[in-house]
Amino acid sequence: FSYPIPANEPVNSYAPGTPEKAALKKALADLKKKEIDIPMYIGGKAVKTGNKVAIHPPHEIKHTLGYFHAGEEKHVNQAIDAALKAKDAWTAMSWENRAHIFLKAADLLATKYRYTMNASTMLGQSKNAYQSEIDSTCELIDFLRFNVHFLSEIYKQQPVSAPGMHNRMEWRALEGFVLAVTPFNFTAIGGNLPTSAAMCGNVVVWKPANTQIYSAQLFMRILKEAGLPDGVINLIYVDGPTIGKVCFNHPEFAGVHFTGSTGVFNNMWKVIGENIAKYRSYPRIVGETGGKDFVIAHSSANVDAVVTALARGAFEYQGQKCSAASRAYLPDNIAAEVKQKLVATLKTMKMGTVEDFSNFINAVIDEKAFNSITKYIDGAKKDKKAKIIAGGNYSKKEGYFIEPTVIETTDPKYRTMCEEIFGPVLTIYTYKAADFEKTLDLVNNTSAYALTGAVLSQDRAAVELATNKLRNAAGNFYINDKPTGAVVGQQPFGGARASGTNDKAGSMLNLFRWLSARTIKETY
Ligand code: SER
Repeated sequence: FSYPIPANEPVNSYAPGTPEKAALKKALADLKKKEIDIPMYIGGKAVKTGNKVAIHPPHEIKHTLGYFHAGEEKHVNQAIDAALKAKDAWTAMSWENRAHIFLKAADLLATKYRYTMNASTMLGQSKNAYQSEIDSTCELIDFLRFNVHFLSEIYKQQPVSAPGMHNRMEWRALEGFVLAVTPFNFTAIGGNLPTSAAMCGNVVVWKPANTQIYSAQLFMRILKEAGLPDGVINLIYVDGPTIGKVCFNHPEFAGVHFTGSTGVFNNMWKVIGENIAKYRSYPRIVGETGGKDFVIAHSSANVDAVVTALARGAFEYQGQKCSAASRAYLPDNIAAEVKQKLVATLKTMKMGTVEDFSNFINAVIDEKAFNSITKYIDGAKKDKKAKIIAGGNYSKKEGYFIEPTVIETTDPKYRTMCEEIFGPVLTIYTYKAADFEKTLDLVNNTSAYALTGAVLSQDRAAVELATNKLRNAAGNFYINDKPTGAVVGQQPFGGARASGTNDKAGSMLNLFRWLSARTIKETY
């Protein structure tokens, strides 16, 4: 079974007057009409614990979308047991049939559930229509289809045979179960982490962020409708420490597929290391973590291109992308013009609910995020080394709203130039145009992270220099573009250093991590 390279799912613009916009509006209204009760899914069964937790849109905290049933330790054990029970039949299923389930899920998402999925991300995660279209529906469809393609290619990889013998590689799944822990910010990542492992024949326990459950449960239902056998993916809502305690102590723990904070990932490594003798196999630890992503402009850069890279790169989805631009280095010959145009652009970005499609900026995900982001803004207001040149206001009366904020600093090691903020805050440092090369060293040495970064330059030699000097400063490096918006199949995504294991989501590299090959030699 060979699946050719798919085309990327076309992205709807939801422009005024289009039927797509009307359909999405209707899906939003339908979802808002009724509070839904959200069970966990263990062994294919809907599990309701009665311990109900309310879900509110971050931009409209007085509205309730529904309630999820929170689980406890025993549900983690039940999920693992259900996964292990499903394992043999899943492993034995032909690759063709396994692939068809994920391709059908992709088609269901592209057609029947497209607007409901977008609306779920918009309401549950406060993401505007266009961003939701890209990252909930299209990116998830792409992950499913491209991964089927990549896995087909992997399965074809076979050793040579010789006279009197036949050799082959059996691309086995890992022994045991895989834990997928997924973040709130990309519904597509939420869908990709459990399915990429499952597609390879693994069974999975899936823990989404609480703030992602509203869209995650819909994807789980789509997988069921597409024919995913019971127990192959088990969706549970249990707190992280309890999940860790049970999963990382289990002899059948085979690996973790994680996207989230560096701190949590570091802790996982530690606990897994401490428990290493308990496991049947060495677990695969695959993670994409934080970022402190840079944009450096060269003196030759096109000013408007720099402004766009910063405005979109830093503020789309309120800066809550691990790839978001959050530190900018501007040469003094264009810095004033870039800043003036950037501030003017930000003034045109309307902030408010997702239901008004003209709002570019919506709310940040929750109160914890709101408090942590605004602390940085308040700090900058008081610090002599920093000056706020745009935004700086915030309110949590109706929802968790923070204005797109630009801080200017004279200290390249100022706090907001180094630490991950994960919100709509960009810090700018101006350097002497002649010091481009020295500034590249600064870019490279300022942050522990190395996820994404961008250089803007019309000068080929400067591009060359930046590409070489920043070799290890970013896993996704953009030339004359913003550092966000990687497209599956086009820009495989991931970073190294404190940003993760760089196993590029949506690539063969990632899928190889969920396979454990058996070499078989037969003589005759
Ligand atoms: N893939 C996303 C981006 O490139 C981040 O996860 O923005």
